[in-house]
Amino acid sequence: MPEYQTSPGTRDILAPDSTRWRRLVEVFAEVVESAGFGQIIPPMFEDLGVFLRLGEATDIVTKEMYDFEDKGGRRVALRPEMTAGVVRAFVQHRPLLPWKAWYAGPNFRYEKAQQGRYRQFDQVGVEVLGVDDPHLDAEVISLAWEFYGRLGLRQVRLVVNSLGEPEDRSRYVDALRLHFSKDLAALSPESRQTLERNPLRVLDSKREQDAPLVAAAPVICDFYSADAAEHFASVLAGLDRLAIPYEVRPSLVRGLDYYRKTTFEFIGAALESSQNAVGGGGRYDGLVEDLGGPSTPGIGFALGVDRTLLECDAEGVFGAPATPVSVFVVDVTGGAEALTLTHDLRSAGIASDRAYEGRSMKSQMKAADRSGATFAIIIGGDELASGAVTVRPLAGQVGDDRTQSTIPRTELIPMLKRVLPS
Ligand code: HAM
Repeated sequence: MPEYQTSPGTRDILAPDSTRWRRLVEVFAEVVESAGFGQIIPPMFEDLGVFLRLGEATDIVTKEMYDFEDKGGRRVALRPEMTAGVVRAFVQHRPLLPWKAWYAGPNFRYEKAQQGRYRQFDQVGVEVLGVDDPHLDAEVISLAWEFYGRLGLRQVRLVVNSLGEPEDRSRYVDALRLHFSKDLAALSPESRQTLERNPLRVLDSKREQDAPLVAAAPVICDFYSADAAEHFASVLAGLDRLAIPYEVRPSLVRGLDYYRKTTFEFIGAALESSQNAVGGGGRYDGLVEDLGGPSTPGIGFALGVDRTLLECDAEGVFGAPATPVSVFVVDVTGGAEALTLTHDLRSAGIASDRAYEGRSMKSQMKAADRSGATFAIIIGGDELASGAVTVRPLAGQVGDDRTQSTIPRTELIPMLKRVLPS
C-alpha cells in the first residue's frame, strides 16, 4: 500500500468519471442560465462568523466545521455549504434585486465518512434574493426537478414542508419541547441530548426507540399563522400547476437553522435513508439581516453532486461518456514527425494523440487501438520520403472497411475534416 492515500471522506475523481462530473455541471448551468441565473464563484473559506449564522445548535457548526486560525491570526473556516457565503457576497456587493445566482463547487464537513457521505463533497445550487412571491418557491423547485429529469432520473421524489414564520416555528419548538419532556425516559439518550440543543431535530431521529414519541409529536401545520398557511398553500398550488408531484411531510426539518416557511428535499432511491437526500433547500428570509444586510427574502437549494451521480448509477442513466481522440499518429521514423503532425492536427481542431519513446510499429498500433481513435495516421520511411501519410481505419470504426490509403500529407487535414463527425 502506498504511504500516502486520500484522507478519510475524500476521493479522487478520475476520467471518465471526472468528464461525467463536468457534464453534470454543464447540464445544471444550461437549466439555470436559461432561467436568468448568473454564476457566482465565492471563496472556499471565509471568516468563521459567516458560517456561525447557520445555527449555533446545528451539528454542521458545532461538530463538523473545518475551522482554524490562519497565519495572520484570523479565525476562518472551509465552507460547509454555499448559502451563507452567497448571502455574505450579496451583502458585500448589493447587486440589483432580484438577484439570481447559481454555483458549483466543493464543501467540507467533518462527518462520519460512508457511501454517499463525504468530508469533501460537491454541490450545484441556486439562490434568489429579494423576492417573497410563493410562485418563486415553486419555480425554484421546478429548476431542480427539470435538472434531475435532464439527467434521466425518474425515481427522485420531492418532499416539501413549511416551517412557518419565525414566531410559528418558535411556538412549535416550545410545544415539541413540552411533548418530548413529558416522557423523557422513553427517548433514546442521543435524542435526549438533541432535545436540549434543538427539539426540531428529534423529529429526524431514525432510532426505533424514539418512533412512538416522534409519531405522536405535534405537527407544524397546526402552528402556522394565516400568512404562513396561505404562502404554503400557494407554493403547493404552484407545484400542482407545473405538474410536479410532491409529498407534504410535516416532519421535514432540515439540518440548518436559517430556514423559514418553505423547505424541501429531493429523495433518491439509491442510498440508505440516513443519506438518501440528493438535494434540499428552502426559504431563509432572515439570513441577509443576520449577516448585516437589509431585510431581504431569500430562497434556494443545493444538490449533492456525489449523491446525484450515485443515484444515476442506481437508475442506470447519465453514464460516464467516452472521450476518445479522433486520430492516433504512429510514427516509426523516430517521433519528430509525430511531434509536428499532432501539433498541426490539434491546431486544426482535430483531437489527436501519439505514442512516445520510439516504440515499435506493433506497440504503437496497439496504443492506437486502445485510444479509441477512428484512424491511425502512419508515418514510415516511405511516407517520410514522399511527403505522404497512410490513413488506416481502426477496429470497430467506419463499419468493417479497414482498407488503408496513402495520401499526400497536405491533403490529410482537409480529408479528416470531411470524414470525421464535427
Ligand atoms: P444540505 O441539505 O445541507 O443543504 O445539503 C444539500 C445536499 O448536499 C444534500 O441533500 C446532499 O445531497 C449533499 N450533501 C450534504 N452533505 C453531504 C456529505 N457529507 N456528503 C455528500 N453529500 C452531501 C445545504 O447545504 C443548503 N445550503 C441548501 C440550500 C441552498 N438551502 C437554501 N439554499
